[in-house]
Amino acid sequence: MAYMPMLRNAWYAAGWSDEVEAGKLFARKFLNENVVLYRTPDNGMAALQDRCPHRFAPLSYGKLDGGVIECCYHGLCYDSSGACVSNPHGRLPGKTVKTYPVQEKHKLIWIWMGDAKADPAAIPDLSYLDDAPATAFNKGYLNPKCNYFMLVENIMDLSHVDFLHPNTLAAGGVREVNGKKVGTITGAKQTVEEDGAAVTIEWALSDSLPLAIERKHPGLAPSGLIDRRSIVRWDPAGAMTLKIISLPKGCAADEAFVAYNTHLMTPETDTKLHYFFANARSFAQDDVALNEAIRKLREMVFVTEDMWVCEAAQDRIGSENFWDLRPIVLPTDVGAVRVRRKLEAMIADEAAQAATKKIDANVAAE
Ligand code: FES
Ligand SMILES: [Fe+2]
Repeated sequence: MAYMPMLRNAWYAAGWSDEVEAGKLFARKFLNENVVLYRTPDNGMAALQDRCPHRFAPLSYGKLDGGVIECCYHGLCYDSSGACVSNPHGRLPGKTVKTYPVQEKHKLIWIWMGDAKADPAAIPDLSYLDDAPATAFNKGYLNPKCNYFMLVENIMDLSHVDFLHPNTLAAGGVREVNGKKVGTITGAKQTVEEDGAAVTIEWALSDSLPLAIERKHPGLAPSGLIDRRSIVRWDPAGAMTLKIISLPKGCAADEAFVAYNTHLMTPETDTKLHYFFANARSFAQDDVALNEAIRKLREMVFVTEDMWVCEAAQDRIGSENFWDLRPIVLPTDVGAVRVRRKLEAMIADEAAQAATKKIDANVAAE
């Protein structure tokens, strides 16, 4: 077994805010651990390991009353700190349920699965989702069967668009303009930059045709030739924004159509992920029908094209280590490889710190 280890000390998207309803328990697995989420009476959010420390029944099968969960099996009750606050069979056991830092921000719930101190300021900045009116914001959730990092690489390397999405996201084949091949993402100018822990890759295309999907659905982008910048930002470990700036030929910069596409990948297990996607836009912000069309199109493209190929590739990789397979590395992989290397270094650093802590604890115990 050599699945890519998971970075624990990071904020992961746990759910859309409206998925966790007041008075209800919400179960979801993150990084191979079962978690139960719920809203507390003081408008806070609680996240506990979804396992009663008595005989290990899922706490999410229990009853929620005033911020306290009563276990379905033998009735022990736990509050949001994980403490047992009621035992119908005798005195209170000292053993507590593990809890996780949790925050609500940018219409999402964020969870921290690691042992290091969780700083809410480190939650990736998706404030464009807060700024978007309801009619220019749409979202979804899918649960693909592959390692979460395959989806990170999918978004980091947009060179797949011309081949995997010829009838949807591609700009309609290679064309020659002034002796140059333009109009598709293949051959687009790439720029990779680092910003602290984040990595950004930009694909710049001039004189691009509208995408296949834009030709079928007028209103998604300007018509005619477009200068298009597709800027992907990755924040560890699975938060990505693809900002697309489409500027009609000859127009001023402030006439550009700007779309923000959010892609949040949270590992559920080694071979399954929670994929939260959203879209916000600067144009036609009152167009409810366009909003729903964008949501449907994105989901359709993702399910029938990206998710399908990532799941199939996962099947071919099995549990083999990525680098042991000696993959071909193309110039277009530069952003994805940079992200992989960065994440591997963070995971190694996290493992080294955990090992040092263990040694210190052993020395202290002697
Ligand atoms: S398993 Fe929860 S009280 Fe027994
Ligand atoms: Fe894709």
